Amino acid sequence: MTVKTLPELLDKMWQDYIAINPLAKKVSDVLTAQGEKVENDHIALRTFNHPRVNVDVLAKPFLDSGYIFKGDYHFVEKKLYAKHYEHTDSSRPKIFISELKLEEFSPSLQKRVGELVSQIPVGLEKQFDFSSIGRPWKITTAIYNELLKESDYAAWVSAFGYRPNHFTVLINSLKKFFDIKVLNEFLKEQGFKLNSSGGEIKGSKEVCLEQSSTLANNIEVTFDDGKLTIPACYYEFAKRYPLASGELYQGFVAASADKIFESTSKGQ
Ligand code: NI
Repeated sequence: MTVKTLPELLDKMWQDYIAINPLAKKVSDVLTAQGEKVENDHIALRTFNHPRVNVDVLAKPFLDSGYIFKGDYHFVEKKLYAKHYEHTDSSRPKIFISELKLEEFSPSLQKRVGELVSQIPVGLEKQFDFSSIGRPWKITTAIYNELLKESDYAAWVSAFGYRPNHFTVLINSLKKFFDIKVLNEFLKEQGFKLNSSGGEIKGSKEVCLEQSSTLANNIEVTFDDGKLTIPACYYEFAKRYPLASGELYQGFVAASADKIFESTSKGQ
């Protein structure tokens, strides 16, 4: 099916995401069974700052569909830059796109990533559903492992390509689990593992955003020369608080996201 409209694209992204992250579907189903209506706060995408596939390239279909650029972020420790976009229809999830700053890595990582990007068929990156196209290059387990030594993030993009890294439950839309602590406890009771890097709850009421996330589930990925079982995607939870103006804060907090990015680290 050719994806032409925003609802089709968002649906394709969700289907692709739950196919490789069945735990997210489980969490969503468990909450629904508790009488909750699960709304998405944001969808996160990852890429490299290579001119062919940078944030602005990935953002284009969203900008063409009513999204507006709202803020940008620097993740110094993770060597990332990100932008977030909001739709004029606020019931649409925000789109958060980060890119790895290649120039801050070794010449060999830059060369490897350049080789991956050069395999993308000309013009594919302009396709409307590029953000859920999957991996548009061939890669060996050796190159994946080489990238992993320098950056979890580079390795993740090299293995999974272009697809949502995570969806995010908007806690504000929940009734019974309106408090992030109550939600976290409930999820743990249900057997889900949460990312505890930097504490289970990242952020605070003071910065107007609290977030937690599941740990990424491991899945078997087929490479050119074999298979590896590696961290895939995670599910995030966000509770937003009003600014002094009374308006709900819609941005992101770099210090918190630095730790959230570790949800796809192998170490946990
Ligand atoms: Ni997020």
